[in-house]
Amino acid sequence: MKSFASRRLSSAALMFVVLAALAFWTWQQKSTLGHTSFGTGYVLLLAIVFLAVYNIRKKLPMLPWGSSSDWLQAHIYVALGSAFLFALHIDWRLPNGILDTTLATLYLATFVSGLVGLVWTRTIPARLARVSEEVIYERIPMLRSQLCERAEAAVLETVRSSGATTLGEFYSRQLHSFFEKSRSLGYFFRPNNRLRRRMLAELTEIRRYLSEPEQATCEQLFALIRRRDDLDFHAAMQWRLKMWLFLHIGLTYPLLAVASLHGLLAHLFDGGAL
Ligand code: HEM
Repeated sequence: MKSFASRRLSSAALMFVVLAALAFWTWQQKSTLGHTSFGTGYVLLLAIVFLAVYNIRKKLPMLPWGSSSDWLQAHIYVALGSAFLFALHIDWRLPNGILDTTLATLYLATFVSGLVGLVWTRTIPARLARVSEEVIYERIPMLRSQLCERAEAAVLETVRSSGATTLGEFYSRQLHSFFEKSRSLGYFFRPNNRLRRRMLAELTEIRRYLSEPEQATCEQLFALIRRRDDLDFHAAMQWRLKMWLFLHIGLTYPLLAVASLHGLLAHLFDGGAL
């Protein structure tokens, strides 16, 4: 069985040979004043159809269509090669007209979203693993409200048993909304630990005014603040992965539709009939 590195090398070599052959063919056709637009257009459409079929392959993993890692590798190579095909097809010039500009924009947006997704799918899981153990996205709201209940119960119990109110007042003034509220949309786009640092610093600041029982609860709150912030980080990064895929697939189908329409119109205008 071939190793991953050698499979990668042979896929890259195959892609290079196919693209070089196509580039040679277009150069040869042009030097004899032949047409290349239909040839490069069909190969490009075929490549886009192949890229889109990956969505069906992922929905039907039981089909004997090859392993999912082979599909992903083929997807990435065909996608990268399609950029060269695209450039050949538009003859390295900017497109004109509404339909062609829309098509080029859709292609570029899908391509760029693919590149971004490739980086994110390779880096985000490792970043999340460094923060805490695996957290299932759908369970995050439930875990957050459990944390909020634990923090509230710990503070109430301390106020009740010790009669001291400094921590209780600080909790209702600052920490209650931290534990209860969701993060802003801005945080989802650019997660950061500013709020976590601020909460920990403020808690550290009032720590010296606290009674002994309050200080013990304060230690629990430190841990709960960190845990809550880790959950928010998981939520933001996993949301990013979901949104990326949603956008990448969402662009694929309009791209296919506009590319097919463009091909149809090209045939109609070429000879007046298909
Ligand atoms: C330009 C045309 C492209 C089209 C039409 C396209 C289409 C698709 C489709 C339909 C999926 C399947 C999504 C799913 O069902 O989960 C997908 C996934 C993916 N694509 Fe693309 N793609 C394109 C370009 C790219 C590029 C340029 C890259 C990166 C070099 C890329 C990287 C990926 C990755 C990493 C996945 C997800 C793999 C996974 O999580 O299993 N795509 N793409």
